[in-house]
Amino acid sequence: MLHLVKPSAPPISLGPDGEIHRLELLKRYEILDTPPEAAFDRITALAADLFDAPIAIVSFLDGHRLWFKSHHGLDDTEVRWGPEAAVSTMETMIRGELGVGFFVSAPLITHEGHYLGALCVIDHHPREADERQLRHLATLAALVTDRLELRLIAHNAAARAEILAAEIDHRAMNSLQLVASLLHLQSRAAPTPEAAQQLAIAANRVMAVARVHRNFSANESIESVPVVAYLRRLGGELADVLGVVIDVEGTETSVPTKQLLAIGLVVNELATNATKHGAGPLKITFMPAAAGQYELCVLDEGPGLPDGFDVSRHKGIGLGIQVVRALVAQLEGHLSAGANPAGRGACFTVTFPCATPATDAGLRHLG
Ligand SMILES: Nc1ncnc2c1ncn2[C@@H]1O[C@H](COP(=O)(O)OP(=O)(O)OP(=O)(O)O)[C@@H](O)[C@H]1O
Ligand SMILES: [Mg+2]
Repeated sequence: MLHLVKPSAPPISLGPDGEIHRLELLKRYEILDTPPEAAFDRITALAADLFDAPIAIVSFLDGHRLWFKSHHGLDDTEVRWGPEAAVSTMETMIRGELGVGFFVSAPLITHEGHYLGALCVIDHHPREADERQLRHLATLAALVTDRLELRLIAHNAAARAEILAAEIDHRAMNSLQLVASLLHLQSRAAPTPEAAQQLAIAANRVMAVARVHRNFSANESIESVPVVAYLRRLGGELADVLGVVIDVEGTETSVPTKQLLAIGLVVNELATNATKHGAGPLKITFMPAAAGQYELCVLDEGPGLPDGFDVSRHKGIGLGIQVVRALVAQLEGHLSAGANPAGRGACFTVTFPCATPATDAGLRHLG
């Protein structure tokens, strides 16, 4: 015997306009063709158990197919039918395709009253179902709908948070540029040439932070960023600012976003030094090294490092290398300096491990 909890509004009877509207609503939930989720699988397992039946599905009616978000006891993930099929209820579709003897379903109706699909329980053999079971099935279907609404709310909240983060980034960048402009103005009014120079240097460093930040916040992902593409964007801007040719090479690798600001600031200092104390063209390379480490190099074709130069010592070191050392420490990495292996010039190398979510190697206070 068949027991069918009829969908309150059989989808196909909506008419062409109503059906188009319904499909648009369904798309908004972003559920179709998503991977299985334990929350839905738990509900189908419970529904099957409630009727002591082998199969239960959470299905969504998408045009000319029924797509299963959860399919307990069934390998198929969807049922399709041709456009000519005159189908009146979900039951007829499933019956026709799966050849079932027992079928009960409860509709998935959104909080606004729109029909999306059904929670169905199926057995190959005809059998009975009582009122209590059907009532519980309807409650389980309501739980599926609640879950869908929660997913939608979470998705919308995430989208809003991303817009907000982009807006905050944009304002932070504007503020940094404003601070840089103020420092430039102050350098013009400085009482001595030395003070003017120091203020101009400070203004340039603030601009560098803004530049480094702008180039990675332009990226969409908040988790990790393709680092070579990022270095190319940054290198392009630095080449304009420093008036030098900068070539960026490397193996594209996704690096946690929290490491990018430190990487960008290191490159900024080393490229500035390479132009000031060395000569172009500059080369920036980024390669994976052994044992989960990365290797970042900045090379130039200038006169090379001064005699006796030791990057880890204090003697002969200015603020630039001190900043680089602090950033490399944040990356939990190692800084070395030597001759450019290609011949003329200097080569600065930073090796550092890829950060895991547990180690925060983002920009903390320097020093
Ligand atoms: N690419 C390079 N080629 C040759 N010498 C370099 C190079 N990079 C750094 N040096 C040497 O290392 C020294 C320290 O660099 P550092 O960036 O700390 O100071 P700075 O550039 O002199 O001043 P600032 O504090 O403005 O950065 C430089 O003065 C220079 O002698
Ligand atoms: Mg310097």
